[in-house]
Amino acid sequence: MISSSRLTGFRNLEIDARHELLVQTTGLEPTALDVLRPEQGLTLEQATHMIENAVGVLGIPLGIALNFTINGRDFLVPMATEEPSVIAAASNAARIARVRGGFFTSSTEPIMQAQVQVVDVADPSAARLRLLEARAELIELASAQDPLLTRLGGGMRELSVRLVETPSNTYVVAHLIVDVRDAMGANAVNTMAEAVADRIGDIARGRVLLRILTNKADLRLARARAVFDAEALGGPQVVQDILHASALAAADPYRAATHNKGIMNGITAVVLATGNDTRAVEAGAHSHAISPVGQYTSLSHFERDADGNLVGSMELPMPVGLVGGATKVHPAAQAAVKLLGVSSARELAEIIVAVGLAQNLAAMRALATEGIQRGHMALHARNVAVAAGATADELQLVVSWMIKERAIRPDAAERLLAELRSATPATGSETIGSSKSDPLANDYGYSA
Ligand code: MEV
Repeated sequence: MISSSRLTGFRNLEIDARHELLVQTTGLEPTALDVLRPEQGLTLEQATHMIENAVGVLGIPLGIALNFTINGRDFLVPMATEEPSVIAAASNAARIARVRGGFFTSSTEPIMQAQVQVVDVADPSAARLRLLEARAELIELASAQDPLLTRLGGGMRELSVRLVETPSNTYVVAHLIVDVRDAMGANAVNTMAEAVADRIGDIARGRVLLRILTNKADLRLARARAVFDAEALGGPQVVQDILHASALAAADPYRAATHNKGIMNGITAVVLATGNDTRAVEAGAHSHAISPVGQYTSLSHFERDADGNLVGSMELPMPVGLVGGATKVHPAAQAAVKLLGVSSARELAEIIVAVGLAQNLAAMRALATEGIQRGHMALHARNVAVAAGATADELQLVVSWMIKERAIRPDAAERLLAELRSATPATGSETIGSSKSDPLANDYGYSA
């Protein structure tokens, strides 16, 4: 357990120093984070065992979101993303949440479901009851497929049977409801579904067709809530405007899609960093973004508490695991899990939802105040400067100058670098070296 996730000045350190500080803070082995270096990460050999026709590995930056307190415990959260601003934004929102105790989370048991579709059933209503009468037999048959899961306290828990009407058919759809413990669970439930399918077909007196998990994992929910202090947010008007932003997302699918994309910026980054299935989590989230009247809507909810602070909450399907899949074989994912210091899939799921909520708050706060472009532009300028060959010493000067001159372009960066290096002051350069402003300080309102 770490003492604090508030690593002030972290972003100003070189990578080696960041690793050192992380190792010190987490108490991990000094070499535990070496696998995060591309030359020591996933090998081609490992890649060929993970997928078919492998020809290489793709690097995605992995960063650490700071400042998270969840249920009174601090976490350093690994996030893998190609998008600038995301990690800074999450860190910033987590810093604001800390003022009022951070995030509070909970979750259901890790229950996944598989569907078995039966077609050509003459008497669907009676078939449903016949299947429910065979509940104990089907549970036993399914659980027998995975003795290890049973030993760990998991296994098939319940059977439900639905009749799904289409214009031309009534399908009998059996659901195997399975406690998958610390696995994501797709393999476990798919194996069970295939194993019991024939018996289900016999009992229903029809032909079994699809046997596959549902990604609408609505029995495997994780929840997070936080109070965002009004003053830390920027005052009552900012609270009011964030409520307007949230209300628009709730009412308007065009805004909801972008609002939810912002939430997924955080969620997908942690899911990917920990080697979990990003598409499964995304499919689950989208299936959950439907209001009771069938409209696509916001995944999060915001309100004002009696003291005028902003309260955010979110509940989502979160099918992630710690055993099996890429989490087990990808060295960087293993390092990310160690760094996070979680020991159960539920704990991981809860942290992921907290990060999604933080990401959402950060985006709304930026949008409800000065917009996100200034922060984005600072990072864009940084990328342009690096691509133009700026060294660590030159970076800040070049970035500040390009922003000030509104000339965030490769040719402008190259010209300034040439002028800096020949020690000839650039046109209008009197302010270049005197800029005290940190071009990244406003990255979604970020400051560590
Ligand atoms: C950008 O990746 C995400 C945002 O558009 C989210 C939002 O609009 O809420 C900033």
